[in-house]
Amino acid sequence: MEYGKFAGVKVVDNCVWLQFEKQTVNVEIITDEIIRVFVPTWMKDYKSVAIEGDVAIPVDFDVTELDGEDKKVRISTSSVSLCIGDDFDFTFLDKYGDELLSSFNGSRKLKETLSEKSMSLLAAEGHDVSDLKSKDYKVQVLFKLRDEERFYGMGDKTGFLNKRGYAYENWNSDIPQLHHENMPALYKSIPFYIGKGAGYVYGMFFDNTFHSYMDFGKESSDYFYYGADEGNLDFYFMAGEAIADIVEHYTYLTGRAPLPQLWTLGYHQCRWGYESAKDIRTVAKAMREHGIPCESVQYDIDYMEGYRVFTWDDKEYEPAGQLIKELEQDGFKAVCIIDPGVKVDKGYRVYDEGIKKDYYAHDKDGDVYVNEVWPGDAVYPDFGREDVRKWWANNHKFLTDIGMQGIWNDMNEPASFRGPLPLDVQFSVNDRLTNHAEAHNVYGHYMSMATYEGMKELTGKRPLVITRACYSGAQKYTAVWTGDNQSVWSHIQMLIPQLCNLGMSGFTIAGTDIGGFGGDSNPELLVRWIEAAAFSTFFRNHCAKGQRLQEPWQFGDKVVDIYRKYVKLHYRFLPYIYDLLFESQITGLPVMRPLVLHYEDDENTFNLNNQFLVGENMLVAPVVEQGATKRMVYLPVGTWISYWDGKRYQGNQHIIVDAPLDVLPIFIKEGSIIPMYEDVQYVGERPYDTLTLLVAGDSAWGSHYQDNGEDFAYLEGEYNLYSFTYEDGALDCDMLHEGYEKYKEIKVERL
Ligand code: NOJ
Repeated sequence: MEYGKFAGVKVVDNCVWLQFEKQTVNVEIITDEIIRVFVPTWMKDYKSVAIEGDVAIPVDFDVTELDGEDKKVRISTSSVSLCIGDDFDFTFLDKYGDELLSSFNGSRKLKETLSEKSMSLLAAEGHDVSDLKSKDYKVQVLFKLRDEERFYGMGDKTGFLNKRGYAYENWNSDIPQLHHENMPALYKSIPFYIGKGAGYVYGMFFDNTFHSYMDFGKESSDYFYYGADEGNLDFYFMAGEAIADIVEHYTYLTGRAPLPQLWTLGYHQCRWGYESAKDIRTVAKAMREHGIPCESVQYDIDYMEGYRVFTWDDKEYEPAGQLIKELEQDGFKAVCIIDPGVKVDKGYRVYDEGIKKDYYAHDKDGDVYVNEVWPGDAVYPDFGREDVRKWWANNHKFLTDIGMQGIWNDMNEPASFRGPLPLDVQFSVNDRLTNHAEAHNVYGHYMSMATYEGMKELTGKRPLVITRACYSGAQKYTAVWTGDNQSVWSHIQMLIPQLCNLGMSGFTIAGTDIGGFGGDSNPELLVRWIEAAAFSTFFRNHCAKGQRLQEPWQFGDKVVDIYRKYVKLHYRFLPYIYDLLFESQITGLPVMRPLVLHYEDDENTFNLNNQFLVGENMLVAPVVEQGATKRMVYLPVGTWISYWDGKRYQGNQHIIVDAPLDVLPIFIKEGSIIPMYEDVQYVGERPYDTLTLLVAGDSAWGSHYQDNGEDFAYLEGEYNLYSFTYEDGALDCDMLHEGYEKYKEIKVERL
């Protein structure tokens, strides 16, 4: 991108327009800490999909022209400055004048192009040659790569917590193959990262929905870069004192996950392969017989009539609603899958209505675009249109009428079996007709938005929506799971950085397919998985047709016992998880957190991939290696108390702990109070009348949030907020807010 010499500056309201010889750059002051840089090479009045409404607030800022220096203009708020010179050479500085991020004034070292012959030889042997050519992108910006800088965030990308040295693409991709650490793209596009070095931190969100690229120093050790095939260069720079500030700013911009219904946080059992009502009933019954708490046995695609969305197969699944009602008696809630592809089938209501109203995407010649998904030939609703979303939302009435309580959106990258959708298929974004190239990455985002609105309207409850594909900001509507993982150890290992990075990217309600979706699980793997996932906010065992059955009892009594222990543990700590989700609405911070989020100056946490925090006060160190029965745990500064035996450890050291198959090492931070609930088989089995407080240490403090766990009454003040202090053997309770029926009993358990 060429800018040329700086030619002038003009301030209009909260915007600073910088004129260069060849380009205009708009610097918009969003808050004291957030600055948007917008280079309208494509569309001047671009409206974001991720950021809804006006997020800019009035802020004092200065614009100073700098005579004779290499930088020509300085724009400053009280927290951050941006200095800009010719050719849009820029530096962001913190309030002390120290550098945070600078542009790199050079060009990329593109890879040498291999001869066609070498390329075809590599391709012939099955190698992926797509990565072997490198090119400059139409939209591109290079940044100086600092020696010690690390990169976190980027949503569901595979690999490690710290993304340095890796390159990624934002192009929502259905990947049924093994997700390995070098995978450029997965299901979601979250072009947001946190840059962290010695004494500094900042965040960057690149708001462009076209296919984009983020290279964190893989191509060069001098620079890192962002590129996109089309669209504007449009980024939000976020300054702060700590990683937590950056997460707060990012979620201020793109939104925070609303409080879910309490039951949705419980355990779910699933399999793509429950092919009849009988299968679902058998599994539900077995869950109760084995005493493993469970909220839902989920309906994958087989419940539909010929994979037609918003229909029910009365033959295999019994008359619609019958099984749902029956299982409700035993506390089960119904959750089903809904894919975007609508079967081409004259006489099928959904298809006909969509055709009549012209709701489906068209090819470049104006014909309704058809590809293939589960139902065979299928058409794709144009979810970027509000009228289409409303129609889609209303279609859920068929499901809520039969008792459906949660919706799982799948295949919404969108997936297609007859080759990828051409980039010129016509879809809409923000009601503006555009092409698939722009709409692809927000297709799942819009679908989950429609689902959320529909379920909210139809049930009056907080909707459970789970999506596979989405874009930044979808956390406002939906939980996510990490798609088709596999029953391999590398995927238990990966779930920690993956969920931590998703969490720092706004997706605080997230999970993996416990046991692995593809491939056959085995007893040890399944046990270690339920342990590693025990604090997941979306907590579901799921696997594919044709794989070994994966319900815990398929692996023998010993597995069932350990499995039950950890599902129960999850239920015991539900109030703690719920508290963190309540806090998350204010701070944006996730439930599952990498240690670096709270101990960011401690170098032992910088690349810590195999342990995590739950909130600030619980440290979890799962065994993620086959055969291991001990593991090294890093305890950061403070005193940490083992949950199992009350043993106290001084932090700031590595320790070795025993972790036989049935032990998940958990440590509670001294001085904290963790709320716990009694055993139940499902949320709602009986009222949670008693709250137990796990008091870690002789003097401790904690807060706790309580509401009806179902609807939106909490927004009208129907909730309680408790503050607990434990000192000299006595518990003191202060009500910070009182608007809901209080617990009948509050017990103390000492650790
Ligand atoms: C792909 C999804 O990722 C998986 O979870 C689901 O079971 C299958 N589609 C079938 O619906």
